[in-house]
Amino acid sequence: MKFKGLTIGVPKEIMEGENRVAAIPETVSKMIDEGARVIIQSEAGRGSHFDDIDYKQVGAEIVENAEQVYQNSDIILKVKEPLFNKELNKHEVDMMKKGQYLITFLHPASPENHTMIKKLAEKGVISFTLDSIPRISKAQQMDALTSMSTVAGYKGFLMAANYLPKFIPLITTAVGTIKPANVLVIGTGVAGLQALATAKRLGAIVYAIDVRSDAREQAQSLGAKIIDVGIPEEIAVGSGGYAKKLPDEWLDKERSIIKEHISNFDIIILTALVPGKVAPILITRDMVESLKGGSVIVDISIDQGGNCELTEPGKIVKKNGITIIGTKNIPGMLPLSSTWLFSKNIYNFLSYIIQDSKINIYREDEIITSTLVTDGNKIVHPGALEAMGIYK
Ligand code: NAI
Repeated sequence: MKFKGLTIGVPKEIMEGENRVAAIPETVSKMIDEGARVIIQSEAGRGSHFDDIDYKQVGAEIVENAEQVYQNSDIILKVKEPLFNKELNKHEVDMMKKGQYLITFLHPASPENHTMIKKLAEKGVISFTLDSIPRISKAQQMDALTSMSTVAGYKGFLMAANYLPKFIPLITTAVGTIKPANVLVIGTGVAGLQALATAKRLGAIVYAIDVRSDAREQAQSLGAKIIDVGIPEEIAVGSGGYAKKLPDEWLDKERSIIKEHISNFDIIILTALVPGKVAPILITRDMVESLKGGSVIVDISIDQGGNCELTEPGKIVKKNGITIIGTKNIPGMLPLSSTWLFSKNIYNFLSYIIQDSKINIYREDEIITSTLVTDGNKIVHPGALEAMGIYK
């Protein structure tokens, strides 16, 4: 009974278009089996097709409004960072209380979240961010960022297919044969590989670019042809095997190679990211102008600034007949699967950090130290402190 005596609260998400929820009846049932009391805001699961009755059946208490969840819980589980609740005319942080624990995606380094992070510290909330789960094997089951990248890659490609004014697979008809679509995936990490696999399943011819040789090998094993941008591994790959920020001359070289090939593609999926940095611009205005009419670009890296110069955050725009998709929060468009994955990741994290009904934030533990953002009144997350210009 490791959760005995703890009350866990799940409010309804308030970000526009956010259909996910932090707990599903299956994970709530596990929390209750471990001794927790679980409070769910009415209709919190609706966007993901879980009704209040489903939560009630496993023993959760349903309350009408968010304030009741925040006031009565020791631990709050959420999907998105706390925001201003227009309906209640109150910020979600203002509904929280000193010593309460919060587990969610906080993106604490992102400048637009700094005021909210400072508010959490002023309130004395102990907050953890799931976007900082370390990439180590024991944390894989908690890695919500990887789960959401899987969803973004899959759904991102389907969005491209929907906007493309032609077939993806080879189609043979009585009047002739339609050639399959040519797809280029730039950045073949988790999201890019999933986009690539989805494109292959639909019958596209797929090409891939990545600066890491491991990522290129994985793309090749899924059936992609590789376009080599010729960047030496020691320039492209940093500590832990992740991509590094490229010096300008190498980035120029990469762009010039992409430019040579780009007009052959009907769909371009962009997922190139450098951990903790703004996404590199790999597709410039003149490259977009050289594409065939009807081509589609999906800029999955938009949350980190985007890989295409013309992407407009949160929008789908048409430029010279080219559709550029800058939709944010693509995982929210596949709420049933993304909620299923996310709720399991957050449950595994919760279960890991709680020992004997307590969370000990001072425990020597990489998962705790990497994810802790506010320790009561102090901001402790190194990425957030650096971005705020405060050094520990
Ligand atoms: P990411 O989202 O940070 O970046 C996506 C891809 O963009 C990466 O493959 C990166 O090499 C590539 N990229 C960066 N700059 C580029 C440029 N200028 N041009 C072309 N491509 C560029 O990466 P993601 O998806 O988070 O994962 C990267 C790797 O981390 C995976 O391939 C996997 O091996 C590993 N991983 C390990 C996990 C674990 O051990 N728990 C969990 C998830 C991923």
